Amino acid sequence: MSLWQKHAVFEKNSIVLVIGILIVIAIGGLVEIVPLFYLKNTIEKVDGVRPYTPLELAGRNIYVREGCYLCHSQMIRPLRDEVERYGHYSLAAESMYDKPFQWGSKRTGPDLARVGAKYSDDWHRDHMRQPTSVVPGSVMPSYSWLEQTDLDYKHLAQDLKVQALLGIPYSADMIANVAADVEAQATTDSPGAADLVKRYPKAQARDFDGNPARITEADALIAYLQLLGTQVDFKLYDDKANIR
Ligand code: HEC
Repeated sequence: MSLWQKHAVFEKNSIVLVIGILIVIAIGGLVEIVPLFYLKNTIEKVDGVRPYTPLELAGRNIYVREGCYLCHSQMIRPLRDEVERYGHYSLAAESMYDKPFQWGSKRTGPDLARVGAKYSDDWHRDHMRQPTSVVPGSVMPSYSWLEQTDLDYKHLAQDLKVQALLGIPYSADMIANVAADVEAQATTDSPGAADLVKRYPKAQARDFDGNPARITEADALIAYLQLLGTQVDFKLYDDKANIR
């Protein structure tokens, strides 16, 4: 019996064919998946990436709550036009502490992966209050209530605990000091800033919303936006890895 004739078993019996297909797909799948179990991490570590401070995490929660991801991506693809417009393409490590990640899939507005340090805090506050006041013709909605709403950080320690469960390296010390860290980071020249920076290297501490009397949701959101894309020093990285 030739090989061709043996194959007729599959062609004449649909159940045998289905089982045959499943076996072949399973082998293909295992070849792709099994090696991943032997790797400790599929993300290449990059210097400078740290977990969010409590204030930045609160800002990120507001970003998710307000659905900013519906109009903004946070993922610069390694394509020439994107890199020229937004800067270095996104690295996997830059969203390794982002759970859930905010890559997004729609760009009604620009990508925000590297928006940190691009504008002043005042610009962000004015832009949130009324986008057309700084970008005439903007179709972005106004989020004017953020600077009028006190940030609720009573339960923020719980958020850090959940993130820790998901594998983000928040220590007991970080979780115990959530309120102190929020207050230190949202205040200019705060005495607690030194402790904050010890826990979260290079954290920027200042009054982000221009209203020192209150800690508002705008403080949190602007602290988060100003961090985006600023953690990795690409000058160092590119020299070391010799990419580009
Ligand atoms: C309906 C779509 C839409 C939503 C929702 C939206 N934006 Fe925008 N956003 C835009 C558009 C369009 C622009 C470009 C015009 C401008 O700068 O206002 C923009 C611009 C921006 C910029 C300036 C980016 C740059 O590089 O110039 C920032 C920062 C920003 N948005 C943040 C946010 C945040 C934070 C939220 C959620 C609170 C949000 N956006 C929600 C559409 C949106």
